[in-house]
Amino acid sequence: MAYQLRWGIISTGGISHQFVKDLLIDPNTRNVQDVIHKITAVGSRSIEKAREFIDNLGLAGDKDVKAYGSYDEVYNNADVDVIYVATPHTYHYENSLDAIKAKKHVLCEKPVTSNCAELRSLLAAAKENGVFFMEAMWTRFQPSSLEFKKISDSGELGLPVTVHADLSGNFNIENIPRTHRILDPILGGGALLDLGPYPLVWAIMALYENPANGGTKPTITGSILKTPLTGVDCNTSITLNFNQSKLAAQAVLSCSINIDSMNPGVTIRYERGAIKVASPIFVPKSFVVQYFDEKGAVTKEKERAFEYVGRGMYFQADEVARCIRDAQMESSLWGHDKSLLEMEIFDEVRKQGGYELPPGVEKVL
Ligand SMILES: NC(=O)c1ccc[n+]([C@@H]2O[C@H](COP(=O)([O-])OP(=O)(O)OC[C@H]3O[C@@H](n4cnc5c(N)ncnc54)[C@H](OP(=O)(O)O)[C@@H]3O)[C@@H](O)[C@H]2O)c1
Repeated sequence: MAYQLRWGIISTGGISHQFVKDLLIDPNTRNVQDVIHKITAVGSRSIEKAREFIDNLGLAGDKDVKAYGSYDEVYNNADVDVIYVATPHTYHYENSLDAIKAKKHVLCEKPVTSNCAELRSLLAAAKENGVFFMEAMWTRFQPSSLEFKKISDSGELGLPVTVHADLSGNFNIENIPRTHRILDPILGGGALLDLGPYPLVWAIMALYENPANGGTKPTITGSILKTPLTGVDCNTSITLNFNQSKLAAQAVLSCSINIDSMNPGVTIRYERGAIKVASPIFVPKSFVVQYFDEKGAVTKEKERAFEYVGRGMYFQADEVARCIRDAQMESSLWGHDKSLLEMEIFDEVRKQGGYELPPGVEKVL
């Protein structure tokens, strides 16, 4: 019998729609038979929007799916096991905390919180209430990432030496409302919190998780160019040095909100080769492995490509279902330590770049 996980969805915006659409795809299409997903509640600040969301996803005829005009009613629904939080960044803390206090497991969108102090507080609450908590770092669960990890950690290319990764997007910032979540500092606007998690996940997979690193944290340098429109970070770069262990490697990461991404979006160079990951780096469908000779010339090149039904947001959901089924409080692939490292890095980059969120936005300091 497959284990069924019952989801409550918090908010009806763009990514909630994508996520639920993927949850509704038959797991057999991805060769998964041990877990299945069921939507039992959708919460919005407006009941009409919750109903419209359910309708748009073809769930209107399903009597088991409840529409609510508040988030609290979802947390308090006994037919919900896990809450998916997909509100703007600066609401993740309070929405997740409310869910945890109602003893619900939580999958929270990236960036997991506005700062590291908020995340520490959430993790303490999750522990106290005995619930599973994970940041929705769906990239880590992609088939391409799992295959990348096998090659990267195997040593067949030698140790990693540098990671260059960028995720950018041209949001047409001159012509969108200042209240758009990418521009509004009250919503944690800017490149770092919105796009930064994705170049960073590649540095974490390639360097932080590399067996030679032994779990050692990097030193952090950050630089920010702000937009005069609202003062949020427009172009941000991060340098991470991993040199406290057997690994001596550097990651150079960037994100921008006024220009499109590069392709390949990630290049990882090793002692005897390189891996180039195709954009979009949050859900890559292919990468190329290059093997070098002693002079650094490419002797062999192999492309790996991946295909599946839908957008691929269900791979993380399958992980959540298995962890909850097995009474685990965190995922072994994207555990609390990695979200903590992410938020420590973002805090430090914002500090070095002089980007302070408006007073009251960060709920824990
Ligand atoms: N994993 C990914 O690939 C991915 C992609 C995009 C976004 N995200 C993340 O998901 C989160 C949501 O992004 P999104 O693109 O879905 O945003 P969105 O389309 O603007 O939706 C956000 C939803 O949050 C709710 N909300 C609650 N308080 C709000 C407020 N003060 N202002 C605006 N909306 C508010 C609204 O739903 P109700 O009115 O129904 O309550 C709104 O529809 C962000 O943290 C983002 O980083 C992840």
